[in-house]
Amino acid sequence: MNSLNIFIIFGVTGDLANRKIFPAINALLKRNELPKNTFVIGCGRGDKKANTFKNLDEKISKNSEYIKVDTSNLDDFKILKKKLNSLKSKSKADKINLISYLSTPPQSYDDIIINIIKSEINKEVFGYSRIVIEKPFGQNLNSAKKLNKLLKTGFNENQIFRIDHYLGKETVQNILVSRYSNLVFNALWNREHISYVEITAAESIGIKKRGEYYDKSGALKDMIQNHLLELLSLIAMNDPKENSPDSIRDEKVNVLKSIKKVDYKNNIVRGQYIKSKGRKGEQYNSYRSSEGVSNNSKTETYFACKLFIENERWKDIPFFIRTGKRMPTKVTEIVINFKKNKTIFSDNDQSNMLIFRLQPDEGLLVKFNLKKPGKKNQLINKNLEFHYKNLSNEFNTNSYETLLLDIFNGDTMLFSRSDFVEMAWKIVDPISDEIEKDNIKLYGYKSGTWGPKIADNLFRNENTWRYPCKNLVNDGEICEL
Ligand code: BG6
Repeated sequence: MNSLNIFIIFGVTGDLANRKIFPAINALLKRNELPKNTFVIGCGRGDKKANTFKNLDEKISKNSEYIKVDTSNLDDFKILKKKLNSLKSKSKADKINLISYLSTPPQSYDDIIINIIKSEINKEVFGYSRIVIEKPFGQNLNSAKKLNKLLKTGFNENQIFRIDHYLGKETVQNILVSRYSNLVFNALWNREHISYVEITAAESIGIKKRGEYYDKSGALKDMIQNHLLELLSLIAMNDPKENSPDSIRDEKVNVLKSIKKVDYKNNIVRGQYIKSKGRKGEQYNSYRSSEGVSNNSKTETYFACKLFIENERWKDIPFFIRTGKRMPTKVTEIVINFKKNKTIFSDNDQSNMLIFRLQPDEGLLVKFNLKKPGKKNQLINKNLEFHYKNLSNEFNTNSYETLLLDIFNGDTMLFSRSDFVEMAWKIVDPISDEIEKDNIKLYGYKSGTWGPKIADNLFRNENTWRYPCKNLVNDGEICEL
């Protein structure tokens, strides 16, 4: 069957379209993975500019069209609909598939969704009609529920693709595969054998020019509510019934449902970067002096917490989660810390660690003990390591390419389902409320450090965070960054 695939981008002149969506379309085209007969329609508020599609491969851009759309004006959507009908009648395709990608600021989502539905662009008459939205999915539980409700007035859940770009990362997709296809890991995946889990998403950059957005969100809403809870749910979920989007997404939601209310007095640390000098003498401005940020802002640029999952698998096992801007290096990793093995050989063995390095130097690292040569009773702890970069140059780290292809294929596995989004807000909202009430302290920290030192106290025993370096195998507070 021959189909015409129309990719409508609302907000086509914006940063997201040019930096992520166009390059992903180009890459799919180059790899011959873009469905044949794909046609791009760009919608924007302004008059047509000659260079709107300059970042799109010429094979696609030469047929692309721009339509001026005021998102609150239904008449403009009717014009868009007419255009779709005329494309349908001109083409000999039996099917006409539509993807409406909302690449606009979230304030426009409601208008666009309402008008897409009113002009019946959502109707699956001649083929599929899918809608794509980017985070943030609401600002809290209430607004997320409203957004979901609105979407569901015109779309079924399997037509809705909520993008969390972390799920498109190759190494994030690998979490489940590595866990479930290796008995040496999977057999130990519970409270009997695992002592604690750390999830770190550190960034060396500050907030750049995103002050206006960021100051209203902070690290909690910007990173924890979405990316880090997604990672947590993949690491902690119980066995899905089958390898299907819904079985996996069901189990992810179950993890969130089992998270115990976070003890905000003892188990949360918030920080904000202050004016400081880097290790090489470079000057860093403070968060408060950034464009768009209020000069007495209490928004956190660092957030760490300890939380517990109340189920059979994880009862009493702490999960330590942290994210921050202006950290010493950009690194995202998950560390599974195993319990100590009681051994007759030595009492100074270190516990095993399994590290999923999501970025950079993507790979896996296992720390294990072995006998120190020449010594009867001494052990040494060494690394077993795998780096994706050694595998082949087919390793594709671009999440937008993966996600776009899945949207074309209708595979919802790597997208956030409505109940997940709402559960995530249910976890985050009570914390935001305490922040609003000024009940959770905010500590300053210097750029290039791992955030407020007090975050080490979340452990309350001899353990502490792993301080990762840029390269997977090294760690320590001071290393090549
Ligand atoms: C975005 C956040 O969702 O993720 C940003 O809004 C953050 O603040 C970014 O910088 C991090 O993504 P990545 O892929 O660079 O780890």
